[in-house]
Amino acid sequence: MNQAHRRISKAVIPAAGLGTRFLPATKATPKEMLPVVDKPAIQYVVEEAAGAGLSDVLMVTGRNKRPLEDHFDRNYELESALTKKGDAHRLAKVQESSDLATMHYVRQGDPRGLGHAVLCAAPHVGDEAFAVLLGDDLIDPRDPLLARMVEVQQTYGGSVVALMEVDPQQIHLYGCAAVEPSDDGDVVKVTGLVEKPEPAEAPSNLAIIGRYVLDPAVFDVLRETAPGRGGEIQLTDALQTLAEDEKVGGPVHGVVFRGRRYDTGDRGDYLRAIVRLACERGDLGPDFKTWLRSYVTEEM
Ligand code: UTP
Repeated sequence: MNQAHRRISKAVIPAAGLGTRFLPATKATPKEMLPVVDKPAIQYVVEEAAGAGLSDVLMVTGRNKRPLEDHFDRNYELESALTKKGDAHRLAKVQESSDLATMHYVRQGDPRGLGHAVLCAAPHVGDEAFAVLLGDDLIDPRDPLLARMVEVQQTYGGSVVALMEVDPQQIHLYGCAAVEPSDDGDVVKVTGLVEKPEPAEAPSNLAIIGRYVLDPAVFDVLRETAPGRGGEIQLTDALQTLAEDEKVGGPVHGVVFRGRRYDTGDRGDYLRAIVRLACERGDLGPDFKTWLRSYVTEEM
């Protein structure tokens, strides 16, 4: 079926990974709950989905899922304590996350890879195009990416991935896209995908980042996709199948993102994201920047 003009309303957020790079913090807490300044990383992602008009959010969870569910639920005890104190400002902060979207949860069981996590969403998504957002990638809300991807999917049909130019020496850390230009300046046609290529073998310096708008044909492809790199079912492998044969689920396009993105799954980038976002905050920024300047001059 041509999915090009059906409105997209569902977002899937895989959050069942083990988060081993952040141990021991992630021993009993999902890495998506780690705070970026004073909000858990996952809240930025749900806000992004809601901001792009996707108000039906399915989170794929694993062990330790309770904090994720609790965060997007009401907390009457806290709300009544803050109401009694007359602290409307903090009350609003508590209520914010439970009012963002209609939340659904599905359990992945064994973390058998990102592709397998996406496949767990099949019964909920049904026969509609849908978005996938990875909690590790934090996209600055001032540089909207997902809304543009939804627009591109509505125009071209099929699936859309988010791409970002990286230093060619860093491409081995990412999935990499072979592309052809399109009539839209920020859109390319994806002709192939390679997972973590050596720089000499990379078809471009365009890396896949954690936002996708997918045709539901991806579910059948994932069911047939054998475990790849690391013994995990890879979403990139399924996307490669879609890209090499348009008859399966329409074309695959890429939106080349040139905005601000933080990879909060990496400890160094996570710390940089916190420092940058804290500096930009009206309430914390001025004092924090004064301290940061003197810390850098005196201590480093
Ligand atoms: P990562 O490759 O970053 O793995 O997953 P991870 O386990 O979360 O983290 P590290 O590398 O061990 O520190 C990319 C995304 O896919 C989800 C993760 O939650 C993350 O959002 N994922 C991964 C699943 O939901 N299930 C899986 O089986 C694997």
